[in-house]
Amino acid sequence: MCGIIGYTGEKRAAPLVLEGLKRLEYRGYDSFGIAVVSDSDLWVWKKRGKISQVNPPVLRRKGRTAIGHTRWATHGEPSDANAHPHTDCRGTIAIVHNGIIENYASIRRELEGRGHTFRSETDTEVIAHLVEEHFWGDLLSAVRAVLPQLEGSYAILAVAGGNEGIVAARKESPLVIGVADRACIAASDVTAILEHTDRVVYLEDGDVATLLPSGPTIWHGGEQADRPVRKVDWDVAEVRLGGFAHYMQKEIYEQQSVFSSTVRALYAEPIPDVLKDFSGITLVACGTSYNACLFCQYLIEEYCGIPVRAEIASEFRYRTPPGGDLVVAVTQSGETADTLSALKQARMHNHPTLAVTNVLGSSITRLADYTLFMRAGPEISVAATKSFIAELAVFFYLADVMGGGRLRKSVLSGHEAIGEALLQDISPAVDLCRGAQSIFFVGRGPFFPLALEGALKMKEITYIHAEGYAAGEIKHGPFALLSHKTPVIALSPPGETFPAMVSNIREMKARGVPLIVIGDGNSQELRDIADVLIPLPDGDMVSAVLGAAVLLQLLAYRTAEALGREIDQPRNLAKSVTVE
Ligand code: AGP
Repeated sequence: MCGIIGYTGEKRAAPLVLEGLKRLEYRGYDSFGIAVVSDSDLWVWKKRGKISQVNPPVLRRKGRTAIGHTRWATHGEPSDANAHPHTDCRGTIAIVHNGIIENYASIRRELEGRGHTFRSETDTEVIAHLVEEHFWGDLLSAVRAVLPQLEGSYAILAVAGGNEGIVAARKESPLVIGVADRACIAASDVTAILEHTDRVVYLEDGDVATLLPSGPTIWHGGEQADRPVRKVDWDVAEVRLGGFAHYMQKEIYEQQSVFSSTVRALYAEPIPDVLKDFSGITLVACGTSYNACLFCQYLIEEYCGIPVRAEIASEFRYRTPPGGDLVVAVTQSGETADTLSALKQARMHNHPTLAVTNVLGSSITRLADYTLFMRAGPEISVAATKSFIAELAVFFYLADVMGGGRLRKSVLSGHEAIGEALLQDISPAVDLCRGAQSIFFVGRGPFFPLALEGALKMKEITYIHAEGYAAGEIKHGPFALLSHKTPVIALSPPGETFPAMVSNIREMKARGVPLIVIGDGNSQELRDIADVLIPLPDGDMVSAVLGAAVLLQLLAYRTAEALGREIDQPRNLAKSVTVE
């Protein structure tokens, strides 16, 4: 959830680390801090709040090694004291950490018993004090001595005044090392490294590394370990705003090319063997990725006749997937803790596993038997948009190849519907939503998961209460909440669900709701009844689904914009949820 970065090289490190933190701020934005090392000293500066709000004095320090952290609070409120880096009693060792030290309370008691003084409420601070007890000038040895005592997950960067370079360690939290010209950069993800280099090394669980300007040396279980240097195919321009007001807006407008790049790349590969021998599919995911999985359930069952279950990853441990099921874990980041746990559990029960992710080298790719990659490029906005479209692209591809090729033509032209949706004027709908206290999103069949996703997007970035419902279900209780103050967004494409949707729409309209219909633009019936009718792109189910998904994203984005919200970094959230 937090972002960490470290630089050691020939340039002044603090400004580079601060720039890197800005790139990582989407991982957490409660507070941030930097430690700079010189030949003999260590300076630490940390502050509650977002990076853009201050100009840290630590930038004046001339050291060529620095580490930094941007926080999403788990242990202890967001405050200056709880911000990282954390230091030992003497202030000579500094640590930044992403993850959770589960046994920190007992370690802290023991350390306090031995006379250590703590300054924060965090789990991380115990690491600094433990390292202090083992540090006699060799930081690598000290960190290695401490790691076996830590239970939980961590990506750690450690520095010490007068000590050259950075020591890094990883267990179940992402950590990537960029290998640049006379510099080494470690970070939670590559978005913070791309400014320096596209050559990276992904650390494995249990790895410890020393980073020097000349490059990294990696150790695993006492032995030196060889890890391949890989080339990242993301471009630095992709992590810049490039004239857009927000990353979310940029990412919504990238979706045409994201969809077509993803399907073209998938069709260019041979069909993975893992897709050839199973009796059913269990999909596991969280949040937006889960909503995509719910959609997949309708799609694959309809086109392939294969039983499919979509499970919320954090609930998967309480369910038993049928024997013979292929378990598919879907995660944009590849680092979501609940999804990783679900996949581990599936492996324990000997299910074949497939990962669907956007991030090369992410943890999920190491766990699954096989990985299908989306081609969404870096997604910076906390609200997932283009990764949702990329996930739909993967599912359309799977339904097509497992269902005998019936969808291919529609899938290959799906990007056109996205383009059409992006051109729609949705201002009247935004006007109806921006003053609402509560909004209901309804749909039937494959459009029910889209209604859930529309509601998730709306609540996440506008802070307006929003709920998604199966349209037929709304009169079984939620009807009690409907009034002229609760706009309803009804997804009503032409086709099988249309007549029943129109009945549901009439029932809701009779309760006085402001009614926005995203649906069949040729229907006089819808035109007569809707306060606002936003036409879906002409075409088949694929076009209607993609069009509706994009229109719902635009509606949330434009409503949040009208309300002046912090769209890319909504309150209390973080991009990648690496704790259970
Ligand atoms: C959606 O806008 C959120 N960012 C969130 O629900 C997200 O989809 C969820 O945390 C899962 O993330 P993942 O796809 O990286 O696993």
